Amino acid sequence: MKILVTGGCGFIGSAVVRAAIPAGHAVVNLDAMTYAADPRNVAQVAEHPAYAFERADIRDRPALDRVFARHAPDAVLHLAAESHVDRSIDGPADFVETNVTGTFNLLESARAFWIAQGRPAGFRFHHVSTDEVFGSLGPTGQFTEDTPYDPRSPYSASKAASDHLVRAWHETYSLPVLLTNCSNNYGPYHFPEKLIPVVILNALHGRPIPVYGEGANVRDWLFVEDHADALLTVLARGTVGRSYNIGGENEARNIDLVRAICAILDRLRPDGAPHDRLIRFVADRPGHDARYAIDPTRIRAELGWRPSVTLEAGLERTVHWYLDREDWWRPLMDRQGVGQRLGTGG
Ligand SMILES: NC(=O)c1ccc[n+]([C@@H]2O[C@H](COP(=O)([O-])OP(=O)(O)OC[C@H]3O[C@@H](n4cnc5c(N)ncnc54)[C@H](O)[C@@H]3O)[C@@H](O)[C@H]2O)c1
Repeated sequence: MKILVTGGCGFIGSAVVRAAIPAGHAVVNLDAMTYAADPRNVAQVAEHPAYAFERADIRDRPALDRVFARHAPDAVLHLAAESHVDRSIDGPADFVETNVTGTFNLLESARAFWIAQGRPAGFRFHHVSTDEVFGSLGPTGQFTEDTPYDPRSPYSASKAASDHLVRAWHETYSLPVLLTNCSNNYGPYHFPEKLIPVVILNALHGRPIPVYGEGANVRDWLFVEDHADALLTVLARGTVGRSYNIGGENEARNIDLVRAICAILDRLRPDGAPHDRLIRFVADRPGHDARYAIDPTRIRAELGWRPSVTLEAGLERTVHWYLDREDWWRPLMDRQGVGQRLGTGG
C-alpha cells in the first residue's frame, strides 16, 4: 500500500514511517517541519526507494492537491497536528488553524483525489486522534468509542472538532474513513518538552523535576512502537466509518511514573542517586484532566490487537535510548519553549 503519512517527522508519525517501510509499504511523508519535527527521526528509512518526502503545510490546500496528484496514494494516515496541551493554552490559534482547518483541507483534497480516481473502495482516510477528546474521568471507568465528547483544553477541543469533520465527510460524502483515539504515547524520539523526556533529561542534569499539582493525574501509557503497529493494523483491517480506541493497558499516576523513571536512573547513573530528591511539585496546568483510561475491547475483539510492551519494559527502553542518544536530544534543547514552563494560563 502507498500511504501518505502526514506529520511523519514528528514523534508518532516517524514511528509509523519507520515501521511501515520494513512492513513493505511505500510512504510519502508530508510534513511542514514545525518546531516539533526532525528529519533525523526518519533517517533510518530516508534513503529507501519506497520513501518520499514532501515539505508541505496542511493549511495550504493547493500544496496538498499537488502531493495527491504527484503520488496517488492508496491511503492517508493523518497525524500532522499541533500536539502540546501547554502550548495550546498559550497560543490556541495555531491549534485551530492546523488541527481543524488543516484537517478540513486534507479531507477536501483527499475527497477530490478519491473522486477523480473513480471512488476506489479500497481508499482509506485514517485520522489519528486522542483520548483527550473524551474529557476527564473520575477514579473509575474507562473511555469507550461511544463515550460522549467533552474536550476541556484548546488542544483537545481542536482534535474533537477534527474528529467531527472526519465523521461528517464519511456520512455526507461516503469518504472511506477510519478513526483512532489513542492514550498518551512515550518512547524514543519523544520531543523533549513532554513529561517523560523532561523527567529523564532534568534528572540526568541534576535539575529540578517539575510535577504538576500533586502528581495525582492518571494516564494510560502506550509505547509509541505499539501505537504505530496498531495504526497499521487498523488501516489494513479496520471497518470503514468506525473508530477504535487504542490504549496501553498501563495506567499510572504521574508521580508514580516519575518515581519509576528516577529508580531506573538510580541504577543506570548511580552517581546522581537518589534522583527523586529533584522532584518539585509546581502549580497545576489550568483545566488539567484528572484521569484518562481506555477500554480497548473493540480493537482487541475485532482486530486481535493488543499492546506488547509493559510500562516497566517500555520505560527501561526509553531511558536507555535517551542515555544513548544525546546526539539526538542535545540540539533540540535550543528550540523555542523547550525547558520553559508553558501553559500556566497567565
Ligand atoms: N503524543 C501523544 O501522546 C498522542 C496521543 C494521542 C494522539 N496523538 C495524536 O497523534 C498525532 C501525532 O502526535 P505527535 O505526538 O507525534 O505530535 P508531534 O508534535 O511530535 O508531531 C507533529 C508533526 O506534525 C507536523 N505538523 C504540525 N503542523 C503541521 C502542518 N500545519 N502541516 C503539516 N505538518 C504539520 C509537525 O512538523 C510534526 O512533525 C497528533 O495528531 C496527535 O494529536 C498524540
